[in-house]
Amino acid sequence: MNKNKYYFIITYGCQMNEHDSEKVAGMLEEMGYKPTTELKKADFIFLNTCTVRKNAELKVYGKIGSLKQLKRKNPDLVIAVGGCMMQVSEPVDKIKKKFPQVDLVIGTHNLHKLPELLNQIKNNDQRIITVWDQEKGIIPDLPSVRQSKFKAWVTIMQGCDNYCSYCIVPYVRGRERSRLKKEIITEVKNLVADGVVEITLLGQNVNSYAHDLNQNYGFADLLKELDQIKGLKRIRYMTSHPRDFDLSTIKTIEESEKICEHFHLPIQSGSNKVLEMMNRGYSKEDYLKIINLINKYVPYNSITTDIIVGFPGESEQDFAETLDLVKEVMFDMAFTFKYSKRSGTPAAKKDNQIPEDIKDKRLQQLMKIQNKISLKKNQKLLNKTLKVLVEGESKNNPETFMGRSRTNKLVIFPKNEGITGKIIKVKIDKAQSWTLYGKIIQT
Ligand code: SAH
Ligand code: SF4
Ligand code: F3S
Repeated sequence: MNKNKYYFIITYGCQMNEHDSEKVAGMLEEMGYKPTTELKKADFIFLNTCTVRKNAELKVYGKIGSLKQLKRKNPDLVIAVGGCMMQVSEPVDKIKKKFPQVDLVIGTHNLHKLPELLNQIKNNDQRIITVWDQEKGIIPDLPSVRQSKFKAWVTIMQGCDNYCSYCIVPYVRGRERSRLKKEIITEVKNLVADGVVEITLLGQNVNSYAHDLNQNYGFADLLKELDQIKGLKRIRYMTSHPRDFDLSTIKTIEESEKICEHFHLPIQSGSNKVLEMMNRGYSKEDYLKIINLINKYVPYNSITTDIIVGFPGESEQDFAETLDLVKEVMFDMAFTFKYSKRSGTPAAKKDNQIPEDIKDKRLQQLMKIQNKISLKKNQKLLNKTLKVLVEGESKNNPETFMGRSRTNKLVIFPKNEGITGKIIKVKIDKAQSWTLYGKIIQT
């Protein structure tokens, strides 16, 4: 066994990766490893990488470079790189040639082989680079060490079949595969028995849940069943696709007790021409129809989105349409990105790429407008009382606590021992674009 051996995991990217990192931790702890918060102390370092944009990759190379020193000090240190970036051949080749400090490269599809490979490395003192280029069914259930005692991620499907023309995810995460509802429900019940009060259902397009299973059962049915689980307090889900978000889901949310009134619906662009080039499968009008239905059936809500600026061929007019849409919908928040060329995707081959300085300018303009809207929306919550799930000390100021409202607003309030993991009431007295502040009125 690996007594007195420590591991350190660095995670980039989305919730799928965060959740995979919990499984890496689970496998390592079964092998006898313990976690450490000091990189220097680690005997095993795992980098869980993301490749969705170029920036994400650059960060990883920078980090691997800096780990070289640690390896010099501790030759027994094992460094592994996994995650989405390792499903692409170019970065794997680069690591093979330029970063000898990396002992193991593993992909997303063979992650469950980590313990076996780690043992091989230690027994034979050899470097292993092994990535499966395709999924082989759903990865078996793996032990998991959760980051939170009372919040948990639950995978309902893996992969993506949408092939948005800019996106690399379908190539690195494989085809869409839904988990059986029986397994999902059992997992959630076990989590609740273990003290979890909030779950987030994970999938690249949760609204198409079970489409591949050919059953007369869909996402709304799954939500309905989960809503019945005693002891569970909150249900969230990520990510929705506007093409597949239907009225039955909205009505289920309206009628449910536990499904949070936060709608994250990535629009990507406000121009129909660009949406079509992106292969998103909906128009601006379709999107606005869903927003109207949400506002009609679930009026107390928050709506957030993802937007890409500078997609190849995006004209000033197209961009202006995105700005108009942002003003019309009045999103609570938007994650805004500059288009990043991902080789192997159809959009990367287009010859009408937008220069970097124009992308920068558009991004700044969009963020400025959205920040004002976010502030306005948050100011509407002044003097209102929100139910907040307490997560613990806030990152920037350990003298305060933080939590999330049902609408996923970040709320900061004075520190109070013994309330972590509980749902309390906070009256809001200060609003910023990204954060609300308030006083506890009931614990
Ligand atoms: N499955 C989810 C999220 C995928 S990645 C969805 O469909 O919404 C998260 C976000 O990254 C996307 O919504 C998109 O806005 C952004 N993104 C994906 N590929 C990108 C690229 N090549 N350049 C810039 N942003 C990108
Ligand atoms: Fe990427 Fe589109 Fe799939 Fe989302 S739905 S992961 S943006 S291909
Ligand atoms: Fe990145 Fe992979 Fe998620 S590419 S965004 S970590 S699915």
